[in-house]
Amino acid sequence: MAYDITRIREEFPSLTVTDEGQRRIYFDNPGGTQICQRSIDRMNHYLIHANTNTHGPFRTSHMTDEIIDQTHAALADFVGSDDPGEIIFGQNMTTITFHLAHSIGRTLRPGDEIVVTRMDHDANISPWLLMARDAGCTVRWIDFDPATYRFDPSSVESAITDKTRFVAVNYASNALGTINDVKAVADAAHAVGALVFVDSVQFSPHFLTDVKAIGCDFLACSAYKYYGPHQGMVWGRRALLELLDPYKVRPADDTLPSRFETGTQSHEGMAGTLGCIEHFEWIGETMGSGGATRRERLVAGFDVVAAYEKDLARHLINGLQSIPGMQVKGLSGEADLDDRVPTVCVTRDGVDPETIARNLAGHNIFVWPGHYYAIEIIERLGLTDAGGMLRIGLGQYNTRTEIDELLTVLEG
Ligand SMILES: Cc1ncc(COP(=O)(O)O)c(C=O)c1O
Repeated sequence: MAYDITRIREEFPSLTVTDEGQRRIYFDNPGGTQICQRSIDRMNHYLIHANTNTHGPFRTSHMTDEIIDQTHAALADFVGSDDPGEIIFGQNMTTITFHLAHSIGRTLRPGDEIVVTRMDHDANISPWLLMARDAGCTVRWIDFDPATYRFDPSSVESAITDKTRFVAVNYASNALGTINDVKAVADAAHAVGALVFVDSVQFSPHFLTDVKAIGCDFLACSAYKYYGPHQGMVWGRRALLELLDPYKVRPADDTLPSRFETGTQSHEGMAGTLGCIEHFEWIGETMGSGGATRRERLVAGFDVVAAYEKDLARHLINGLQSIPGMQVKGLSGEADLDDRVPTVCVTRDGVDPETIARNLAGHNIFVWPGHYYAIEIIERLGLTDAGGMLRIGLGQYNTRTEIDELLTVLEG
């Protein structure tokens, strides 16, 4: 069995859309992927057959409760948890993170320390800076080395002290593409009794997470980054989620996951999220080694996706490096390809990223210029005044031919 890119592309209706007869090339995936057919079908079905609120004594409400339960169970398998109650849904990763920060902040005392990193998207920095401000805590930073694009080990060591109570760290950078050793950070944090929050938003589209193997306390991701609808979620360790004091309305159920799922959720979003998990299962069954359980099918699906995307990343990076004046800002050696997601940022001598992106847009090739909220990274690389970097983000439906088209425009 092999990865069948033609079959994969058939699962994404938006790939066939043209504009004045011209095809589209979506390399804007780290900002949001195209949605798969199974997600669309699940959402349509929910909205036509089951649309209402929860816990009512009638059919549509039973169906709504059922889809919500099914999606929590699917997401538990997706992150490697045995407990669907540990999955909290919300509008997006940022909103749930701010929400949880209120509750986590109540456990902190003045003089406690928290740790954030310069490699994170601001959604995994600002909620914690504000939490620290409100609780009177000191903030320490983990830095990365702009020459290696990896965390500076001495910075990890010095940032985590015996006063550290909370560490927020990103799994894969939305700009550099680096995959971080979050287990090592979690081990260091737990050694001093601190909690660990992992941002997996950019890791989860490309690799399967395993919260037990990482040993973290929270892990966040967003379905619209992995071929589903606009829907965020955070996994949290049950004992902690039960201990924390949620900011909730009084009549709302105080059990998990409801105590942290504020207000009426996007039920169609949950249905669509279930659809994209089923999409990965389908890949595992039809193109990978399959499996008896959902988790096994997901492992099989991600295995073949990761191998395909690694090949694409190699092709893109090699092509970009052969263009005069183009610099890849991230891991680029063959030996480093397993330590990155296929999100590749570049700068070009004498041309700002916005101009390059507009030129590519003229060819209906979609890429992001700027900072994409990774403002600490851009600052650390000294690129704030230069307009940041151009980000080319690959996904499971991209092809070598699309990359060649991009390279041809860039070379021209
Ligand atoms: C690494 C990372 N973390 C967090 C976020 C925020 O996710 P959301 O849009 O679900 O709030 C993003 C969005 O691009 C991201 O790339």
